[in-house]
Amino acid sequence: MQERLQKIIAAAGIASRRKAEELIRQGLVSVNGSIVTELGAKADATKDHIRVAGKPVRRGIKPLYILLNKPAGCISTVNDPQGRPTVISLLRARGVTQRVYPVGRLDYASSGLILLTNDGALANFLMSKASAVPRTYHIKLAGRPEADKLKKLESGIALDGRRTAPAVIRPLGELSQRDKPWFEIRLVEGRYHQVRRMFERIGLRVLKLKRVRIAFLDDRGLGPGQFRHLTAAEVSRLRKWSPQT
Ligand code: URA
Repeated sequence: MQERLQKIIAAAGIASRRKAEELIRQGLVSVNGSIVTELGAKADATKDHIRVAGKPVRRGIKPLYILLNKPAGCISTVNDPQGRPTVISLLRARGVTQRVYPVGRLDYASSGLILLTNDGALANFLMSKASAVPRTYHIKLAGRPEADKLKKLESGIALDGRRTAPAVIRPLGELSQRDKPWFEIRLVEGRYHQVRRMFERIGLRVLKLKRVRIAFLDDRGLGPGQFRHLTAAEVSRLRKWSPQT
């Protein structure tokens, strides 16, 4: 199937589509030995030999979509210079040998759901602002929050000079009656340490943070450290995700 080069490069997980366009413009992409600098150029990833900066774009890679329940104390990057366990080393130990990349981040100290895939196009889409995929967290706070302060967090606060998108926060039943109460927070963006920083703003430390849902995917049946492959229907639903879904 003939497809635009930038789409093929993004789907191979090499770069986002925009970055792929830049690579093409810079003359770093070749098809069957000839440099291509035209943005509309197409190729067939299953037949043509495509190279980016000299490296072949691997053909016919089986797309993989993994939902992992990351335990705390494991880093959500591919490598860690400090040698800590990573989500990739965890999957390797459980028999996943193909290359996959985490979609976004979850702090070292946080636990819960993280998606990993080798489908760069879907990963870029899910991480984009436009997809506004909701992520739900259960958090344990160091003290009781005041209702008006929670309202403030829900309606948005300035973080790094930009207002946070509206969030939904609700108490988690009886657990919310404790001195160190539990709450649920749903965000439609994923900024650096966002939940922890939002609560720091109202003077409360987040003691525990667990991501329990990404879009329609939840952690049912997945204990810490366990993973499962997404079904074809789930992948197609994610591809079509829109904030109105
Ligand atoms: N917000 C945080 O502060 N940490 C996470 O890991 C995820 C969201």
